[in-house]
Amino acid sequence: MLKEVIATRYITPLREGGSLPGLVEADDLGTYVMKFTGAGQGRKTLVAEVVCGELARRLGFRVPGLVTIGLDPVMGLGEPDQEVQGLLKSSGGLNLGMDFLSRAIGFDSLAFDVSAEEAGRIVWFDALVNNVDRSWRNPNMLVWHGDLWLIDHGATMIWHHHWPGAQASAAKPYDVSEHALAPFGPDVASAAAELAPLVTEELLAEVTAEIPDAWLADEPGFDSADALRHAYAQPLLARAAVIHERIKGIEAVGAGKGDA
Ligand SMILES: Nc1ncnc2c1ncn2[C@@H]1O[C@H](COP(=O)(O)OP(=O)(O)O)[C@@H](O)[C@H]1O
Ligand SMILES: [Mg+2]
Repeated sequence: MLKEVIATRYITPLREGGSLPGLVEADDLGTYVMKFTGAGQGRKTLVAEVVCGELARRLGFRVPGLVTIGLDPVMGLGEPDQEVQGLLKSSGGLNLGMDFLSRAIGFDSLAFDVSAEEAGRIVWFDALVNNVDRSWRNPNMLVWHGDLWLIDHGATMIWHHHWPGAQASAAKPYDVSEHALAPFGPDVASAAAELAPLVTEELLAEVTAEIPDAWLADEPGFDSADALRHAYAQPLLARAAVIHERIKGIEAVGAGKGDA
Protein backbone atom coordinates (compact mmCIF):
# COMPACT_ATOMS: atom_id res chain seq x y z
CA MET A 1 0.00 0.00 0.00
CA LEU A 2 1.10 3.55 -0.66
CA LYS A 3 2.19 5.68 2.27
CA GLU A 4 -0.72 7.74 3.65
CA VAL A 5 -0.38 11.35 4.76
CA ILE A 6 -2.90 14.01 5.81
CA ALA A 7 -3.23 17.36 4.03
CA THR A 8 -2.55 20.25 6.38
CA ARG A 9 -2.44 23.24 4.02
CA TYR A 10 -3.58 24.01 0.49
CA ILE A 11 -0.88 26.15 -1.11
CA THR A 12 -1.87 26.88 -4.72
CA PRO A 13 -3.49 25.36 -7.81
CA LEU A 14 -1.26 24.15 -10.70
CA ARG A 15 -3.01 25.50 -13.76
CA GLU A 16 -0.84 24.13 -16.56
CA GLY A 17 -2.83 20.95 -17.21
CA GLY A 18 -6.55 20.42 -17.36
CA SER A 19 -7.42 18.79 -14.06
CA LEU A 20 -6.35 21.54 -11.65
CA PRO A 21 -4.09 19.59 -9.31
CA GLY A 22 -3.14 21.47 -6.15
CA LEU A 23 0.09 21.95 -4.31
CA VAL A 24 -0.42 20.91 -0.69
CA GLU A 25 1.56 20.51 2.48
CA ALA A 26 1.02 17.38 4.56
CA ASP A 27 1.47 16.25 8.15
CA ASP A 28 4.82 14.61 7.31
CA LEU A 29 6.06 18.12 6.30
CA GLY A 30 6.23 16.99 2.66
CA THR A 31 5.01 19.10 -0.26
CA TYR A 32 2.88 17.20 -2.75
CA VAL A 33 1.08 17.70 -6.03
CA MET A 34 -2.40 16.54 -5.12
CA LYS A 35 -4.87 15.06 -7.59
CA PHE A 36 -8.45 15.08 -6.39
CA THR A 37 -11.03 12.28 -6.32
CA GLY A 38 -13.64 14.97 -7.00
CA ALA A 39 -12.01 16.12 -10.28
CA GLY A 40 -13.27 15.34 -13.82
CA GLN A 41 -12.99 11.60 -14.38
CA GLY A 42 -12.64 11.13 -10.63
CA ARG A 43 -11.06 8.13 -9.06
CA LYS A 44 -10.30 6.25 -12.30
CA THR A 45 -7.77 8.91 -13.16
CA LEU A 46 -6.15 8.32 -9.80
CA VAL A 47 -6.13 4.54 -10.27
CA ALA A 48 -4.40 5.07 -13.63
CA GLU A 49 -1.79 7.27 -11.95
CA VAL A 50 -1.06 4.55 -9.40
CA VAL A 51 -0.95 1.62 -11.83
CA CYS A 52 1.16 3.39 -14.45
CA GLY A 53 3.34 5.33 -12.00
CA GLU A 54 4.17 2.27 -9.90
CA LEU A 55 4.68 0.08 -12.97
CA ALA A 56 6.96 2.67 -14.58
CA ARG A 57 8.99 2.97 -11.40
CA ARG A 58 9.51 -0.78 -11.23
CA LEU A 59 10.63 -0.79 -14.85
CA GLY A 60 13.33 1.72 -14.00
CA PHE A 61 11.74 5.00 -15.11
CA ARG A 62 12.01 8.17 -13.06
CA VAL A 63 8.55 8.92 -11.62
CA PRO A 64 7.82 11.14 -8.57
CA GLY A 65 7.02 9.14 -5.42
CA LEU A 66 3.31 8.51 -4.86
CA VAL A 67 1.32 8.73 -1.61
CA THR A 68 -2.33 8.86 -0.67
CA ILE A 69 -3.47 12.10 0.95
CA GLY A 70 -6.33 12.20 3.41
CA LEU A 71 -8.35 15.40 2.97
CA ASP A 72 -10.83 16.99 5.34
CA PRO A 73 -13.21 18.87 3.03
CA VAL A 74 -13.42 21.60 5.67
CA MET A 75 -10.16 22.82 4.12
CA GLY A 76 -12.27 24.12 1.22
CA LEU A 77 -14.13 26.59 3.40
CA GLY A 78 -11.29 29.08 3.58
CA GLU A 79 -10.52 28.90 -0.14
CA PRO A 80 -11.52 32.06 -2.06
CA ASP A 81 -11.34 30.52 -5.58
CA GLN A 82 -14.74 28.95 -6.35
CA GLU A 83 -13.35 26.20 -8.57
CA VAL A 84 -10.73 25.16 -6.01
CA GLN A 85 -13.28 25.33 -3.23
CA GLY A 86 -15.59 23.01 -5.17
CA LEU A 87 -12.78 20.52 -5.73
CA LEU A 88 -11.74 20.48 -2.07
CA LYS A 89 -15.33 20.10 -0.86
CA SER A 90 -16.05 17.18 -3.19
CA SER A 91 -12.79 15.34 -2.45
CA GLY A 92 -13.10 14.31 1.19
CA GLY A 93 -11.24 11.08 2.02
CA LEU A 94 -8.33 9.67 0.05
CA ASN A 95 -6.70 11.57 -2.80
CA LEU A 96 -3.46 11.02 -4.68
CA GLY A 97 -0.25 12.88 -3.96
CA MET A 98 3.07 12.92 -5.77
CA ASP A 99 6.37 14.30 -4.58
CA PHE A 100 6.69 17.86 -5.76
CA LEU A 101 9.82 18.26 -7.88
CA SER A 102 10.71 21.76 -6.87
CA ARG A 103 12.03 23.93 -9.72
CA ALA A 104 11.57 21.23 -12.34
CA ILE A 105 10.94 22.61 -15.80
CA GLY A 106 8.60 21.32 -18.48
CA PHE A 107 10.22 19.17 -21.17
CA ASP A 108 11.05 21.10 -24.35
CA SER A 109 12.19 19.03 -27.33
CA LEU A 110 14.27 21.93 -28.67
CA ALA A 111 16.14 22.46 -25.43
CA PHE A 112 16.65 18.91 -24.18
CA ASP A 113 18.21 16.02 -26.08
CA VAL A 114 16.93 12.49 -25.55
CA SER A 115 18.82 9.39 -26.71
CA ALA A 116 17.10 6.95 -29.09
CA GLU A 117 17.39 4.40 -26.29
CA GLU A 118 15.60 6.49 -23.65
CA ALA A 119 13.00 7.71 -26.18
CA GLY A 120 12.37 4.07 -27.13
CA ARG A 121 11.84 2.99 -23.54
CA ILE A 122 9.36 5.80 -22.86
CA VAL A 123 7.47 5.33 -26.14
CA TRP A 124 7.28 1.58 -25.51
CA PHE A 125 5.92 2.17 -22.00
CA ASP A 126 3.36 4.68 -23.28
CA ALA A 127 2.26 2.17 -25.92
CA LEU A 128 1.89 -0.48 -23.23
CA VAL A 129 -0.45 1.64 -21.11
CA ASN A 130 -1.95 3.41 -24.14
CA ASN A 131 -0.98 6.87 -22.88
CA VAL A 132 -2.65 9.50 -25.06
CA ASP A 133 -1.22 12.37 -23.06
CA ARG A 134 2.48 12.62 -23.92
CA SER A 135 2.18 14.55 -27.18
CA TRP A 136 4.41 17.35 -28.41
CA ARG A 137 1.60 19.74 -27.43
CA ASN A 138 1.45 18.42 -23.92
CA PRO A 139 4.54 16.33 -23.11
CA ASN A 140 3.84 15.62 -19.41
CA MET A 141 7.54 15.17 -18.73
CA LEU A 142 9.66 17.30 -16.45
CA VAL A 143 13.38 17.96 -16.48
CA TRP A 144 14.74 17.95 -12.95
CA HIS A 145 18.45 18.03 -12.05
CA GLY A 146 19.26 17.26 -15.67
CA ASP A 147 17.08 14.13 -15.92
CA LEU A 148 13.76 13.39 -17.56
CA TRP A 149 10.88 12.55 -15.18
CA LEU A 150 7.49 11.13 -16.21
CA ILE A 151 4.29 12.67 -14.81
CA ASP A 152 0.56 12.61 -15.49
CA HIS A 153 -0.60 9.08 -16.26
CA GLY A 154 -4.28 9.88 -15.78
CA ALA A 155 -5.23 9.46 -19.46
CA THR A 156 -4.09 5.87 -19.96
CA MET A 157 -5.65 2.40 -20.14
CA ILE A 158 -8.76 3.69 -21.90
CA TRP A 159 -10.21 0.18 -21.54
CA HIS A 160 -10.88 0.73 -17.83
CA HIS A 161 -13.77 3.01 -18.76
CA HIS A 162 -15.60 0.08 -20.37
CA TRP A 163 -14.59 -3.27 -18.91
CA PRO A 164 -16.80 -5.49 -21.13
CA GLY A 165 -14.83 -4.25 -24.17
CA ALA A 166 -11.46 -4.22 -22.43
CA GLN A 167 -9.92 -7.18 -24.22
CA ALA A 168 -10.77 -5.87 -27.69
CA SER A 169 -9.75 -2.35 -26.79
CA ALA A 170 -6.41 -3.48 -25.36
CA ALA A 171 -5.58 -5.30 -28.60
CA LYS A 172 -5.60 -2.04 -30.55
CA PRO A 173 -2.42 -0.46 -31.91
CA TYR A 174 -0.73 2.67 -30.57
CA ASP A 175 -0.08 5.65 -32.80
CA VAL A 176 3.18 7.37 -31.97
CA SER A 177 3.16 10.11 -34.63
CA GLU A 178 2.14 12.87 -32.20
CA HIS A 179 4.31 11.63 -29.33
CA ALA A 180 6.66 14.21 -27.79
CA LEU A 181 9.61 11.83 -28.28
CA ALA A 182 8.81 10.80 -31.86
CA PRO A 183 11.49 13.15 -33.26
CA PHE A 184 14.23 11.36 -31.30
CA GLY A 185 14.15 8.11 -33.31
CA PRO A 186 12.82 5.94 -30.46
CA ASP A 187 14.44 2.49 -30.44
CA VAL A 188 11.31 0.60 -29.53
CA ALA A 189 12.65 -2.84 -30.49
CA SER A 190 15.48 -2.67 -27.93
CA ALA A 191 13.10 -1.30 -25.31
CA ALA A 192 10.67 -4.15 -25.90
CA ALA A 193 13.45 -6.73 -25.66
CA GLU A 194 14.57 -5.26 -22.35
CA LEU A 195 11.26 -4.34 -20.71
CA ALA A 196 8.59 -6.76 -21.95
CA PRO A 197 10.04 -9.77 -20.06
CA LEU A 198 9.88 -7.75 -16.83
CA VAL A 199 6.11 -7.23 -17.08
CA THR A 200 5.07 -10.46 -15.38
CA GLU A 201 1.93 -11.50 -13.56
CA GLU A 202 3.86 -11.19 -10.26
CA LEU A 203 5.03 -7.67 -11.00
CA LEU A 204 1.53 -6.55 -12.02
CA ALA A 205 0.06 -8.10 -8.86
CA GLU A 206 2.56 -6.08 -6.84
CA VAL A 207 1.67 -2.92 -8.75
CA THR A 208 -2.11 -3.30 -8.54
CA ALA A 209 -1.86 -4.12 -4.81
CA GLU A 210 -0.87 -0.46 -4.38
CA ILE A 211 -4.32 0.78 -5.51
CA PRO A 212 -6.35 1.84 -2.47
CA ASP A 213 -9.47 -0.34 -1.98
CA ALA A 214 -11.64 2.78 -1.75
CA TRP A 215 -10.96 3.61 -5.41
CA LEU A 216 -11.93 0.12 -6.55
CA ALA A 217 -15.17 -0.32 -4.61
CA ASP A 218 -18.54 -0.75 -6.36
CA GLU A 219 -17.29 -1.14 -9.90
CA PRO A 220 -20.14 -2.73 -11.89
CA GLY A 221 -19.36 -6.33 -12.87
CA PHE A 222 -16.79 -6.93 -10.09
CA ASP A 223 -17.54 -8.40 -6.71
CA SER A 224 -14.27 -7.52 -5.02
CA ALA A 225 -11.43 -5.04 -5.19
CA ASP A 226 -9.02 -7.89 -5.95
CA ALA A 227 -11.10 -9.05 -8.94
CA LEU A 228 -10.79 -5.54 -10.34
CA ARG A 229 -7.04 -5.47 -9.60
CA HIS A 230 -6.75 -8.66 -11.65
CA ALA A 231 -8.72 -7.01 -14.49
CA TYR A 232 -6.22 -4.13 -14.53
CA ALA A 233 -3.31 -6.55 -14.80
CA GLN A 234 -4.63 -8.70 -17.67
CA PRO A 235 -4.59 -6.26 -20.60
CA LEU A 236 -1.12 -5.04 -19.58
CA LEU A 237 0.19 -8.59 -19.42
CA ALA A 238 -1.24 -9.40 -22.85
CA ARG A 239 -0.05 -6.12 -24.38
CA ALA A 240 3.51 -6.36 -23.06
CA ALA A 241 4.28 -9.33 -25.30
CA VAL A 242 3.01 -7.83 -28.55
CA ILE A 243 2.68 -4.07 -28.39
CA HIS A 244 6.02 -3.29 -30.05
CA GLU A 245 4.62 -4.86 -33.24
CA ARG A 246 1.53 -2.66 -33.02
CA ILE A 247 3.14 0.75 -32.73
CA LYS A 248 2.07 2.84 -35.70
CA GLY A 249 3.94 5.83 -37.08
CA ILE A 250 7.40 4.63 -36.08
CA GLU A 251 8.55 4.16 -39.74
CA ALA A 252 7.72 7.79 -40.39
CA VAL A 253 9.85 8.65 -37.38
CA GLY A 254 12.83 6.75 -38.81
CA ALA A 255 12.40 8.51 -42.16
CA GLY A 256 12.17 11.89 -40.43
CA LYS A 257 15.39 11.20 -38.57
CA GLY A 258 17.23 10.52 -41.82
CA ASP A 259 16.08 13.86 -43.20
CA ALA A 260 17.27 15.80 -40.18
N1 LIG B 1 5.55 16.07 -9.30
C1 LIG B 1 5.55 17.29 -9.83
N2 LIG B 1 6.53 18.17 -9.53
C2 LIG B 1 6.53 19.43 -10.06
N3 LIG B 1 5.57 19.90 -10.88
C3 LIG B 1 4.56 19.08 -11.21
C4 LIG B 1 4.50 17.73 -10.71
N4 LIG B 1 3.38 17.15 -11.20
C5 LIG B 1 2.78 18.06 -11.95
N5 LIG B 1 3.47 19.23 -11.99
C6 LIG B 1 3.11 20.46 -12.72
O1 LIG B 1 1.70 20.58 -12.73
C7 LIG B 1 1.18 20.51 -14.05
C8 LIG B 1 -0.12 19.72 -14.07
O2 LIG B 1 0.10 18.41 -13.60
P1 LIG B 1 -0.38 17.15 -14.42
O3 LIG B 1 -0.04 15.93 -13.64
O4 LIG B 1 0.16 17.20 -15.81
O5 LIG B 1 -1.96 17.29 -14.40
P2 LIG B 1 -3.06 17.67 -15.48
O6 LIG B 1 -2.40 17.83 -16.81
O7 LIG B 1 -4.03 16.54 -15.43
O8 LIG B 1 -3.66 18.93 -14.97
C9 LIG B 1 2.30 19.88 -14.87
O9 LIG B 1 2.26 20.27 -16.21
C10 LIG B 1 3.55 20.37 -14.17
O10 LIG B 1 3.87 21.68 -14.60
MG1 LIG C 1 -0.74 17.14 -17.65
